[in-house]
Amino acid sequence: MLEINNLHVRLAEEGTPILKGLNLTVPSGQVHAIMGPNGSGKSTLAYALAGRDDYEVTEGNVLWNRESVLEMEPDERAAKGIFLAFQYPLEVPGVTTMTFLRTAANALRKARGQSELTTPEFLRLVREDAARLGVSEEMLKRPLNVGFSGGEKKRMEILQMAVLRPTLCVLDETDSGLDIDAVRVVAEGVNKLRSDDRAILVITHYQRLLNYIVPDKVHVMADGVIRKSGGKDLALELEKSGYAEFRGKAA
Ligand SMILES: Nc1ncnc2c1ncn2[C@@H]1O[C@H](COP(=O)(O)OP(=O)(O)OP(=O)(O)O)[C@@H](O)[C@H]1O
Ligand SMILES: [Mg+2]
Repeated sequence: MLEINNLHVRLAEEGTPILKGLNLTVPSGQVHAIMGPNGSGKSTLAYALAGRDDYEVTEGNVLWNRESVLEMEPDERAAKGIFLAFQYPLEVPGVTTMTFLRTAANALRKARGQSELTTPEFLRLVREDAARLGVSEEMLKRPLNVGFSGGEKKRMEILQMAVLRPTLCVLDETDSGLDIDAVRVVAEGVNKLRSDDRAILVITHYQRLLNYIVPDKVHVMADGVIRKSGGKDLALELEKSGYAEFRGKAA
């Protein structure tokens, strides 16, 4: 279970507060969606969970399976099964996608006390998932995300999830540029990972994505806090009414 209590985050450099006492619980076995106006702090939440040092936590705590996440280094977080996919994935020139995936997978296995995968084992694992997700051999040989189109980056993100099998997945979706197939790829990738021991948080502007994923809960973030939570129908309501009622400052 992911538990976020009274989380306050500010920009380390400017000191500007972005998250202002955010509370959120995502039990294992569930998929939750966060929606909300541009600039409300959704990506900031993802960065704080990742442990990026340009986002400073000033108050509150984050527990993943009762362990405190904020004291952990980013690689420890990954070893605990935490996976974050960003709105703007990092490009890694000089490292092929295949090498990246293999290094990441083996680092995680090592942290969990498992033996490293042999080359044939790893290739089998990746090729199967890659084929299913429409990631070509040629893409696997290219440097990670360099020159990948928006949709290709999404496929790669889902491939990483499929290979690394994290237990907490936070996906920060782009608000544009996904074609219908890519929306399905993301949705299928997420649905395939649904399981009792896994919690998934999808940040999205797409009501349509939620038709495919069908979240257990939908939360609206505005001005750095969760302002409203509801079932999957909340996404449909928002589609109709927009975010007008959330534009003002928190009461
Ligand atoms: N590194 C940064 N430097 C300056 N301002 C920042 C930085 N990171 C976040 N912000 C500001 O913090 C606020 C929240 O940004 P954030 O990216 O979390 O919003 P968001 O909810 O993800 O928006 P969107 O729906 O557009 O993706 C915005 O006003 C943004 O300009
Ligand atoms: Mg964002």
